[in-house]
Amino acid sequence: MRNTEYLLYKKFIEEHLLDFLPEIDHKSIVVYEAMKYSLSAGGKRLRPALLLGACEFCGGDIRGALPYACAIEYIHTYSLIHDDLPAMDNDVLRRGMPTNHIVFGDAIAILAGDGLLSSAFEAMSKDLLLYFDDMANLKKRVRALYEIAKGSGCRGMIAGQIADVEAEGKQCSREMLDYIHCNKTGALITAAVKAGAHIGGAGGDMLMNLTDYAENLGLAFQIADDILDVCGDENEMGKKPGADCERNKSTYPGLYGLDESRKRVSELTSTALKVLSPYYDNAEFFTSVATELATRAS
Ligand code: IPE
Ligand code: IPE
Ligand code: MG
Ligand code: MG
Ligand code: MG
Repeated sequence: MRNTEYLLYKKFIEEHLLDFLPEIDHKSIVVYEAMKYSLSAGGKRLRPALLLGACEFCGGDIRGALPYACAIEYIHTYSLIHDDLPAMDNDVLRRGMPTNHIVFGDAIAILAGDGLLSSAFEAMSKDLLLYFDDMANLKKRVRALYEIAKGSGCRGMIAGQIADVEAEGKQCSREMLDYIHCNKTGALITAAVKAGAHIGGAGGDMLMNLTDYAENLGLAFQIADDILDVCGDENEMGKKPGADCERNKSTYPGLYGLDESRKRVSELTSTALKVLSPYYDNAEFFTSVATELATRAS
């Protein structure tokens, strides 16, 4: 990602990413090492950058949104650790490094994922404790936490992951494939944008437009991920291409072909840009993120 604001957000997140992990008793240090391993392996930091971008776009201070940005990256990282497990996608490479279970074993990888998930909620709820005397800000933060809980939960990311696993090796309808993609990936991306918008104080049309943007971006992002699995470069992606075909996953290129999938990414990206057009140059961060992400798959 080349957008200047994006790079600044990414730097800010990476400088503080480990700050919100709880102090770990030395007896369970291995789980802390496993959590740190996957968090520090790199990655685009897309979700926390979107959260900070939305907060700033809506007039908020990104420093106040940091616990939520780090929390969403903890949740995303946990989802990757679990997604790579032998019982799920059985992948050996992630963020350019051996996957968590390859290094630490399945049991520790499962617990590292659990640890990241609960640390995310610990970080956010600890932040709420600071706002008991400031009802206006407390409300914004509770809304952000709710979006993140909902997006990562059984009506969001988990629902998508379950449907994804159940669709392996089966003929999946177009409607079902959209359900999988919008939930397993779109829900957390939408939660990131909405959480940031809430902390920044957005309401009404702005919140609605940002949500619309995020939903289009989320689906486009997962279709692009499917396309890159077919024709992406291992070094650039930091994960092994061809994994979807190997596991007989239901994917966009599988159901629609590559050309149609690329067309769909570009349509969704155009829609995402269009909903933010009333904001002109103010939405440059969001428009350039959507454009750059779409370009990866073109
Ligand atoms: C990978 O997400 C999993 C999907 C939802 C497609 P990213 O492509 O954002 O992974 P990182 O965070 O950059 O490693
Ligand atoms: C993963 O989707 C979505 C989540 C982790 C929630 P994929 O299985 O397509 O992601 P990659 O390709 O392994 O990164
Ligand atoms: Mg998967
Ligand atoms: Mg996977
Ligand atoms: Mg994939």
